[in-house]
Amino acid sequence: MAEMKKDGGKKPWAGRFTQATAKSVEKFTESISFDKRLSSFDIAGSIAHAKMLSEQGIITKDEGAEILNGLEKIRNEILEKRVGNIEFDKSVEDIHMYVESELIKLYPVSGKKLHTARSRNDQVALDTRLLLKFITTVVTTQITFFQRTLIEIAQININTIMPGYTHMQRAQPVTLAHHLLAYVAMFERDKERYADAIKRTDTLALGACALAGTTLNINRAAVAEELGFERIADNSIDAVSDRDFVIEFISNSSMLMMHLSRMAEELVLWSTKEFSFIEISDAYTTGSSIMPQKKNPDVAELIRGKTGRVYGALVAILTTMKALPLAYNRDMQEDKEPLFDVIDTITNILPVINEMFKNIKFNKELMRKTAAEGFSLATDLAEYLVTKGMPFREAHEVTGNVVRHCIDNSKDLHELTLEEFKRFSELIGKDIYSRLTVEASVKGRKSYGGTGEVKEQIKRLQKKVDKEWTGK
Ligand code: ARG
Repeated sequence: MAEMKKDGGKKPWAGRFTQATAKSVEKFTESISFDKRLSSFDIAGSIAHAKMLSEQGIITKDEGAEILNGLEKIRNEILEKRVGNIEFDKSVEDIHMYVESELIKLYPVSGKKLHTARSRNDQVALDTRLLLKFITTVVTTQITFFQRTLIEIAQININTIMPGYTHMQRAQPVTLAHHLLAYVAMFERDKERYADAIKRTDTLALGACALAGTTLNINRAAVAEELGFERIADNSIDAVSDRDFVIEFISNSSMLMMHLSRMAEELVLWSTKEFSFIEISDAYTTGSSIMPQKKNPDVAELIRGKTGRVYGALVAILTTMKALPLAYNRDMQEDKEPLFDVIDTITNILPVINEMFKNIKFNKELMRKTAAEGFSLATDLAEYLVTKGMPFREAHEVTGNVVRHCIDNSKDLHELTLEEFKRFSELIGKDIYSRLTVEASVKGRKSYGGTGEVKEQIKRLQKKVDKEWTGK
């Protein structure tokens, strides 16, 4: 025992051991260097637990009061020093044992009662759920701010026409507003997914104890109420085995990153000399150490690049969990570093991309000019023929022939004479010319969700986005 004390102190679980933990094992198994991030949630959980123990008469009121006092002190000390700055002694293993051992230092008698009817297995599940409930609000708020920026930019670009693409080939003219609103809609789904995951994350695990529950007369409902949990885990074995909520958060974040990455890719592409659709402000680009002329879209590239690490975290946690027998296994400690990395990655990206977007200059003339090129109005001609009574398949064929003729004669559609048009179909009249402009094309696509009803789309999306933010 004396030797054990010398070697980093006696472990709370040391009763059945005769030898001290090897230093290498302490270093290998510790999680305090990263799970210290859970400290405020861990202490909140302990406070609720202690209150319940004393309410239930499992500990006395005085012991309960001492424990609460001690926990407040520990919380304040951590808050003052700021948890990131604290070098924790690795021999305390994890944040749960740190808090408990500090409490015992303050109150050697009552402190030893805090861990009654509780295990680190249900504690860690509780802490991670509390963390994710909090972080999900942060992330969805950040997404909302970004959506609002996109909507603002869309509002002033209702009439900015650009080429819409399929297969990276110019397809049909759309408005810049329409294109940006596509991202707003994607981010809206991301928020829905996060909100849906909260339904399951918002479940109290504490009280499951090691895995089987307890013989002591605890009150889980009171703890759920105190900590603001919507429901209590039904099965104590599941409560300590489950990391679905971690996987869901990372999976939802992967989807968000996929969306951000597609957007980043477009920013990279659009800022090339070849496209020249946008100029990202100097403040959000970087230079080359050798080529003096360079201005690189590194922020967008890094957003695209960081998608890989978020997907990596998803595969890591899925793989960690895939063959774990019930209930708790130490493997599960491996959920934390990838999870924290995902949290850092997305909460760093969202404010930066938001700022960057506010500082993008759109080259509207060039976008408009490019939108008109490459027979982007061919579908308009086909739909014109449909309105004159031609079956669409036939109209498609006729228009294809017109396009072929234009290619062979180096002309654009609107440059054909009426006689030339009539060679392909008698149904074409001189009203075709007013249809063959990008403005008419865009305006005409008034179908629900189409590029011609962007004003209404803005209203619809704005309503959804604002509703979550303002509650109105
Ligand atoms: N540090 C552990 C984790 O993060 C806490 C739970 C440990 N439980 C145990 N019985 N060893 O998963």
